[in-house]
Amino acid sequence: MNNLLKEKEVCSILNISRTTLWRLKKIGLPSLKVRDSYRYDLAVVKNWMTSEQTRIYMPSKTLTNEDGLKNLNGTERIQNTYLISFEYLIQHNIKHLEKIFSKRNIEDLKNRLNTYSLDGLNNQHIVRIFSQEYLKIVRENYLLSSNNQELDLKLNNFINKEKNKIKVVWGDSYNFLKKLESESIQLMVTSPPYYNARDYSQWDNIEKYLNDMRKIIKESYRVLDNHRIWVFNVGDIFDNDNMVTNSVWGKKRIPLGAYFIRIFEEEGFEFVDDIIWDKGEVESKRHMNNGINYPLYQYPLNCYEHILIFHKHRLDKVKIPCPICGSLNVNGNTQSEIGVQSWECKNNKCFLRSPNNRGKRFSLRTNTMQYYHNNDAENLIEKSILKKWRRDIVEFPPVIKINHKGENTLGHTAPFPNDIPLMAIKYFSYVGEKILDPFAGSFTTPIVAKKFNRIGIGVEINKDLFRNSILRNFKSNFSNQLENSIYSEFDL
Ligand SMILES: C[S@@+](CC[C@H](N)C(=O)[O-])C[C@H]1O[C@@H](n2cnc3c(N)ncnc32)[C@H](O)[C@@H]1O
Ligand SMILES: [Zn+2]
Repeated sequence: MNNLLKEKEVCSILNISRTTLWRLKKIGLPSLKVRDSYRYDLAVVKNWMTSEQTRIYMPSKTLTNEDGLKNLNGTERIQNTYLISFEYLIQHNIKHLEKIFSKRNIEDLKNRLNTYSLDGLNNQHIVRIFSQEYLKIVRENYLLSSNNQELDLKLNNFINKEKNKIKVVWGDSYNFLKKLESESIQLMVTSPPYYNARDYSQWDNIEKYLNDMRKIIKESYRVLDNHRIWVFNVGDIFDNDNMVTNSVWGKKRIPLGAYFIRIFEEEGFEFVDDIIWDKGEVESKRHMNNGINYPLYQYPLNCYEHILIFHKHRLDKVKIPCPICGSLNVNGNTQSEIGVQSWECKNNKCFLRSPNNRGKRFSLRTNTMQYYHNNDAENLIEKSILKKWRRDIVEFPPVIKINHKGENTLGHTAPFPNDIPLMAIKYFSYVGEKILDPFAGSFTTPIVAKKFNRIGIGVEINKDLFRNSILRNFKSNFSNQLENSIYSEFDL
């Protein structure tokens, strides 16, 4: 603040009563206390007097538009300039807060805000902190109503502590997900077992397999944070479904990708994309048909896999603060996407209003993208990654598992290459967030997550089979770190 004036001076220059000034102060007009009296910034007081909401306090003859809001033409936006504080945001929003929060919630919000020092904070910081603390309480209330009975505090504690370590969970991923707090994971990345493709995961028939997968997908919808993403890599296989065909001769093409899209949609996810992974050379010779180059002898190559992208959009009609001014005086707009509630700021004192005086339009999703995270270097996606993935068909080699002596060098027979989790993590998560692979295999996803300063969590059922090779993987990927700072384990 500059140009600070005493109460009497402000009132006489602006020709307003002391009551008017005090009313403005009560709704948040900033002032500086000097001994027993208050000082005000003339320009700030003027601005406070020129918006719709405060007009009631001012005598009609004093100010014209030119003193405060300029009459704008063209594309210029209306900008209110005044200083806000947490107390102001609480007071401004009190009606709404009392409607959706308990008294304890409101006290809690005030206490949380009180822990911040206002030093060096500008309006934008204050709005962001207020919004985040408000949303935390909204979230806690939601969790109280949505968490299931099986929530396991010990497990959730294991997941949430020691943010620099990979979390290794041994057990069945459905069993794991059931015990996890709702909306506590920011990204899921996986490649599930491809039905009976490997000896260590087997099902009687395709129906049973898909039912098991559906249970996991359903539970993961609850566990995934709202407006977040699951990247799901799966191949269309050649096998016996043991339903339509059930003889050893009955192998057929089984379009797992198509089946999974349907299941994800039925469990509430939005299908967003199917990126085709072109794996290059075909490993088998089956499609060559012994060189018989005649009609109907030709068979599929199967040298691609799907990288399916799904969004979770749980429609949430709880109001969220305007990201510009922190007001909860917002009206529901249309849903910008199915399940994504949009809002429009109705606060006439909002810092940013359009030329025709409409407020900011926003949603939880756009706020997450534009305001709640630092869009700075650490979250910037490298040009090389964008270039590689800005296409529908992406070519990169599968992991070579067999060395020239015919030995499996990785200890796991179905790892996916780094490329997939790398893209998923860079594209769909921020530094510090929790990333879960419910079929972790050789832990490729959690390893990449840790490398890029996210928290990698993996669940794997075959502990006996894979533990040694997984630990070896950790050591070779983080050779400069002490073993006990790389990962920690949990048995379900
Ligand atoms: C295709 S592999 C995943 C490969 C992994 N993306 C990698 O890079 O190593 C599937 C893994 O899921 C594991 N698995 C199968 N069913 C499971 C279940 N119900 N819970 C946890 N893990 C399971 C298998 O043991 C296997 O390691
Ligand atoms: Zn606003």
